[in-house]
Amino acid sequence: MCGIMGYIGNRPCVSLIFEGLEKLEYRGYDSAGIAVFDHRKGRDSVQGPQAIKLIKAEGKLAKLKPLLTGLPEGATCGVGHTRWATHGKPSVENAHPHGDEEIVVIHNGIIENYRELKSELAKKGYSFRSETDTEVVVYLLREALKSGMGTKDAVFSLISKLEGAYAFGIMMAKEPSSIFVVKQGSPLVIGLGEGENFFASDALALISHTKKVIFLDDGEIARISADGVTCWNFAGEEKPPISTHLDLVMGSMEKQGYRHFMLKEIHEQPSVIANTVRRLVDLKKETFCFDTLGLEEMARKVDLTRIESIQIVACGTAYHAGFMAKYCLEPLCGIPVNVELASEFRYRAPHLTPSSLVIAFSQSGETADTLASVKHSAALGANILSICNVRHSAIPRSSHATLYMDAGPEIGVASTKAFTSMLLCLYVFSLGLAAKRGRLDESTMKDRLEELRVLPFRMEKAAMLGPRLREIAEGYYEMANCLYIGRGTSFPIALEGALKLKEISYIHAEGYAGGELKHGPIALVDRHMPVIAVVPKDQYFEKMLSNVEEVRARGGRVIMITDEKTLHGGGHYGVAELVSIPHTDEPILQAILSTIPLQLLAYYVAVRRGTDVDQPRNLAKSVTVE
Ligand code: AGP
Repeated sequence: MCGIMGYIGNRPCVSLIFEGLEKLEYRGYDSAGIAVFDHRKGRDSVQGPQAIKLIKAEGKLAKLKPLLTGLPEGATCGVGHTRWATHGKPSVENAHPHGDEEIVVIHNGIIENYRELKSELAKKGYSFRSETDTEVVVYLLREALKSGMGTKDAVFSLISKLEGAYAFGIMMAKEPSSIFVVKQGSPLVIGLGEGENFFASDALALISHTKKVIFLDDGEIARISADGVTCWNFAGEEKPPISTHLDLVMGSMEKQGYRHFMLKEIHEQPSVIANTVRRLVDLKKETFCFDTLGLEEMARKVDLTRIESIQIVACGTAYHAGFMAKYCLEPLCGIPVNVELASEFRYRAPHLTPSSLVIAFSQSGETADTLASVKHSAALGANILSICNVRHSAIPRSSHATLYMDAGPEIGVASTKAFTSMLLCLYVFSLGLAAKRGRLDESTMKDRLEELRVLPFRMEKAAMLGPRLREIAEGYYEMANCLYIGRGTSFPIALEGALKLKEISYIHAEGYAGGELKHGPIALVDRHMPVIAVVPKDQYFEKMLSNVEEVRARGGRVIMITDEKTLHGGGHYGVAELVSIPHTDEPILQAILSTIPLQLLAYYVAVRRGTDVDQPRNLAKSVTVE
C-alpha cells in the first residue's frame, strides 16, 4: 500500500510528481505530500536550513493540489507520497514525507520494530510529531549524520536497525544532487531518462516519461542523480544496474463517459474476454496458444504429465477466482487441487515437491502475502505459475512462468474485469493442461472452443441488465445485511458477490455454499435479510431451489440470479426478484456470466447509498503490506 514517487533532473518537478502520484492513488488515498529541494538556494551551494520544502494534506490528492503553489516552481528534485494508513490515523501529521528541511523520508511498508526504535530515540531526546512507524527513520538518519557519517553510510546504517518491509525515498540537504532509495519487501522501480531519473512504487507512474527501468531487488540501495544511478546490495557491494525495457500497453485511464471506473470496467468485460480468448486460443486452428498460456515455459522446467498436485494461493477477489480451480482444474486434469489464502499459506509448512505446481493469482502482481507465498513455495522446490494482470510486477518476476491476463489497467479498487479475466485464464489453462496430459478428446475440445467463441456475446447480453439491477437496488439499498448462496461453480461467485457488496456499499454481506445454509446461517433469515441466490440451470439446480424454498418459508426475500434455460418452463419460483442471464452448458463460463449481475447490483446499491464507489473507505487497490 502507499504510492511513492521521486524525480531528479532538469525539469520543474512539482506537477510531474503530482501527476505520478495520481497514477499511484489506487495504492492509498488517506493523505498525500510532496517535498522538493528549494533550488532558489542553489543546488550545489551549501544548503541553508530551508533546503527542503514540504507540503502535506489529509485525504485524497485533490486536497493536496491547491497547496502545490506553496512549493518552489523551479524545483527539479523531489519526492511524493500517497498514503494508506497503517500506523496512525489519516491526518496531516501522519502524512508523508516525514522530516524537515534537512532530511525527508517517504515510505511504503511497515517497520515492525518501530516501537523499540522509538523509545531508544526518545531517550536520546527526540520528540515525535506523528504516530507513524516511519518517523523513526528520519531520526535514525539524523543520528547517523550527527555521528559524522556521510550520507551514503547513514543510509546503509539503517539496514541493520530496521525490521519489516520498506521501500524508502530519502532526500538529505547535505546531498541535494541525489535521492537515495532502499528496497526490502515493498515494490520499487527506477526509471531512466536523459539527464533525468525517476523512481516509483509502480512503473505505471513512469511510463509516460520512460520505458527504460531498473527493478530493484529486495536488499538493494540506489543513489539516484540526474546523470546516473548507482546500486549496491545491503552488503555494500556495488552491482551494475540491469535495465529492462517496459512493454506495457497502456490501456485507457479515463472514465470514457462512465460515471465511475467500476462501471466502465464492468462494461469492458466482454471485450476484455474476447481479447483474452483471441490471445490464448487459436480458434481457426482449434487449438491452444500453449506459449501464451505459460505451458511451454513450464514444460521446460517440469514434465507436465508428471504434475501430481496443484496448490492455489491468492487473496481477496483473486482467491475467489483461484477457488474455482477445484471445479475446473481438478476434474479436467485429474490432479488434486488445494486452494488457500496466501496470508495463511505463507506461514505454513506445506507439503510441496518438485512435482507440485503452485498457481498464484493476482491482478496487481504485488500483493505482499501472495508474493511471500510464491517465494515460500519456490524455496520448497515447487514450480510456480502466476496468473497476473500487471506486467513486470513482482509476482511474475518471482515465478517460473506467467499467464498474463492483459485486461488493461483496473482503476476501481473493487476488482471486476480482473476477476472474470482470471476465471477465463484459469479455464483455458485447465483445458490446455488437460490437452497436454492427453485428457481432452477432439470433439470435447471443439465444443469448448465454440462456447469460448460465443462467451463475449453472452456477456454483453448480461451487461445489458444494468437498468433491471438498478431497479432492484432501489428496493434494497437500505438493507443492513445480506446473504449470498450458490453451489458448485456458483459458490465462488456467491463469495465474490458478497465481497463486492461489502467493499463498496459497506453493507454486511456473506457468501455461503447453498448446502451450508442449514448448518447455521439460516438462523439469520427473516424478512429483513435478503438472500441472493445464484441458481443457473446446472447439476445443482434442484438443490438450490430447495434452498430458495427454505429461505422463503422463513420470510426471507430472495433475489434469484438464474439463466434463460430455467425460464423455458415459465417458472417464477415465487421469489421477490428474478434476474435471468444467458445460458451456457459450461459451468465455469456460466459462472463468468453470473458474476456480471452481482457486480451491477453491488454498484447500483453503492451509488444509491452515495459511497465513494471507485475509492471505498479503508481500502487500497494493491495490498503491499501484510
Ligand atoms: C477486490 O475487489 C479487492 N479490492 C481485493 O480483495 C483484491 O482482490 C486483493 O487484494 C488481491 O489483489 P491482487 O489481485 O492484486 O493480488
